[in-house]
Amino acid sequence: MPRLKRMLMLRKYVFIFFGVLLVFIWLNYRNKSNEQNIVFEQFPAVAKDILPDTSPPNLIAREQQIREMIRANRMRKVQQTDEPKVSKIRFADEFGISFDDDDDSLEMVAKPTRYLVNSMKCKMPFADPFSRAVMEVLKPSKLKSCSNATDAFRVQYDDQAKHYNLIVDRDILLKLNPLVSSVDCSYRKIDTLDTERPEHNSNINAPVYFRGQCALPQDVESIMVECHDSFNRSRILQRDAIIVIQVNDTSKNTENRPVERQPSVIVLGLGSMSRMNFQRTMPKTARFVNQMGWFELEGYNKMADTTIPNLLTMLSGHTMGQLENRCTPESDGCSWIWSDYKRAGYVTALAEDNVGEAAFLKNMPGFEDVAVDYDLRPLLLGIGSALSMYEKSGYSYCVGRRLSISYVYEFCAQFAASFARKGDRPVFGFFWSNTITQSSNFAASGLDGIFANYLNRLEQAKLFDNSIVVLVSDHGARDGVLMDLSDSFLEERLPLLHIYLPPWFRSTYPQYAHALAMNHNRLCSNFDLYNTLRHLIQLNATTPAMLPVLASCPSSQSLLHLLPTERSCQDACVKEHWCTCNGFERQSLDGEMYLLGKRVVYHINRWMLMQRYNEFCQRLGLQDMDMAEQKMSYEQNGRVGMYGSIVVYRLRFRTYPYVGKFQATVRYNRELESIEDLHVPDISRLNSYKNSSECIKDDVAKKFCFCYPKSKLSGAMKEWQAQKISTVPAF
Ligand SMILES: *[C@@H]1O[C@H](CO)[C@@H](O)[C@H](O)[C@H]1NC(C)=O
Ligand SMILES: *[C@@H]1O[C@H](CO)[C@@H](O)[C@H](O)[C@H]1NC(C)=O
Ligand SMILES: *[C@@H]1O[C@H](CO)[C@@H](O)[C@H](O)[C@H]1NC(C)=O
Ligand SMILES: *[C@@H]1O[C@H](CO)[C@@H](O)[C@H](O)[C@H]1NC(C)=O
Ligand SMILES: *[C@@H]1O[C@H](CO)[C@@H](O)[C@H](O)[C@H]1NC(C)=O
Repeated sequence: MPRLKRMLMLRKYVFIFFGVLLVFIWLNYRNKSNEQNIVFEQFPAVAKDILPDTSPPNLIAREQQIREMIRANRMRKVQQTDEPKVSKIRFADEFGISFDDDDDSLEMVAKPTRYLVNSMKCKMPFADPFSRAVMEVLKPSKLKSCSNATDAFRVQYDDQAKHYNLIVDRDILLKLNPLVSSVDCSYRKIDTLDTERPEHNSNINAPVYFRGQCALPQDVESIMVECHDSFNRSRILQRDAIIVIQVNDTSKNTENRPVERQPSVIVLGLGSMSRMNFQRTMPKTARFVNQMGWFELEGYNKMADTTIPNLLTMLSGHTMGQLENRCTPESDGCSWIWSDYKRAGYVTALAEDNVGEAAFLKNMPGFEDVAVDYDLRPLLLGIGSALSMYEKSGYSYCVGRRLSISYVYEFCAQFAASFARKGDRPVFGFFWSNTITQSSNFAASGLDGIFANYLNRLEQAKLFDNSIVVLVSDHGARDGVLMDLSDSFLEERLPLLHIYLPPWFRSTYPQYAHALAMNHNRLCSNFDLYNTLRHLIQLNATTPAMLPVLASCPSSQSLLHLLPTERSCQDACVKEHWCTCNGFERQSLDGEMYLLGKRVVYHINRWMLMQRYNEFCQRLGLQDMDMAEQKMSYEQNGRVGMYGSIVVYRLRFRTYPYVGKFQATVRYNRELESIEDLHVPDISRLNSYKNSSECIKDDVAKKFCFCYPKSKLSGAMKEWQAQKISTVPAF
């Protein structure tokens, strides 16, 4: 029976084959879980440009195995499929297509059907704010109230007497504690001492007692008010902090102001708010900015990772590197937009809510010489030192009995109201808040009602009659559940930007309103927003050429001038890693991608070493690749793009110690097998790093830093910690 024998033989081979396969899979699996224990070697010489393969032998062997497998796999696939494939696409809704994350089918190239910007040089995909994936994880949140009691104090401006009155509501007070029959009330002025560092030197003056109501002197800008039981001083019924904007009556001596009417400009900032997250978490506010006169710029692409560099460009036109060079004590300092407005005759203001750890005005070179007429920061710091603060997720959430943002909104509303009242000088104010929006992905949903009320209040203060209002953010979410979704790339890179033009401005400058409307779906960046702010104090510049060229980005321009339809990220000075103008195609996670991930981790370690952060932070190792995608070039109209031998990949990977999630955009030269121009600070960190990076201060390095544990370090880690590199070779 030769046939039966042959069948038996075949069966035997099949068994052996599967047996070997199982062992192989098991070995592979074991290898992988062993990776965490790999003892890594001496950090390689930094001067070499080509990456030495420093992996231990078993890892190299594994990579080779993977590569072999993949190559064999590909060959088979190519043979199998001669006819063109139909991509697997699942329609999520009428607007766009959502990728099924669990589906690992590698040929899947889905072209979006809708774009925010759609030109030859830029195809910025539309991402649905209400996609099913988001709605599944969306958890609206409520704000914690800082106090339940009704306000017993308020201030009111007396138009005739030209001062503020402080008024106490006795009925409310007595309801707070029925046992108390008689109260004494006082206020204490909070001074900011005129020293080098006013923010650290607030002074709380002796109490001034009053009954029912009193006038606040001209020099009072912030006070603490309290009422206590007349018979027992320590029984305090209510204690509160109040800030007032005092305007000097200077209307007589500003008669020689320009003939042209100058618009006031108010910038309202919400930290960490993408246009998508804005739509989904703040529907009431979104409705407000959908009214007549508001223009949205949907093609607004951020240009750096974190808050400071984005705001820096928006408000000074500089980038971080330039700032360090230009703002040395020897030079004239930095050119902040507030100075330009001041020179143009504006009254200027600045407010930020995060007193504890200011997101913006840190003790950094250049940042201390922002000079404005009205600055909330010293006042708020004084109040913060006098009243209790409540922190949440590292942000000062409540100061005294109010949300910290409410001081900013109050300050802004008073600023707007005071100058609308006087109306003889235009104002420029920048009002930034991030304590709530930045604390978690969906915390803004609790803020929506408050923010919409705030806008309504500004409307009542007649702000929208005269002023141009900019509602803007620095970037989208950078960690949290949103970063696990397929649209996270866009979520992070497309901040909110809406601009309001008042009726008189639209009729005086119809060409500017028209251009702004046309720019709705064109690519723009922080540099263009900076130019717009400059343009507003030089409205006679009717063409882009009439505004002085911005050295840091000569191709940027005002948003009140028509942007070119064909505009690339390069024209907008947005770097590759932040650019949202291209589609990407999913790659299989083969040995090549794995190796690329390792190279990126090597570059991160090298950067840490050169910046001397190895003294504080552990060395990273690649734990696993999560995703690899290849960039499509626009010229090829959706086909996978090659720039000569350069391929651009977008990689997501995880590192140990447990656990860093990263995303990097790398230009890979296939011929030389090397990564080109990798700018390490531009690599994104996708999960929170607050807890693991407390041993260092630097914002950029924190992304890559896992501080050393208290326990004893391994020998290899000790070596890494002790290494010192003094020469910085060119990349
Ligand atoms: C406000 O009231 C709620 C319930 O009435 C209570 O749980 C909360 O602690 C109170 N908050 C403050 C700040 O008193
Ligand atoms: C005064 O008020 C405080 C706080 O309510 C209380 O602890 C204290 O016992 C009171 N002292 C007198 C003498 O009643
Ligand atoms: C207002 O005037 C007083 C003196 O009259 C001066 O000390 C103060 O600096 C002025 N404030 C502003 C904001 O101009
Ligand atoms: C615009 O006006 C400013 C002064 O208001 C003047 O210095 C500048 O030369 C003018 N520019 C043009 C292009 O007319
Ligand atoms: C960070 O540390 C705090 C306390 O130190 C802890 O409550 C919190 O859960 C930690 N967060 C993360 C993400 O580990």
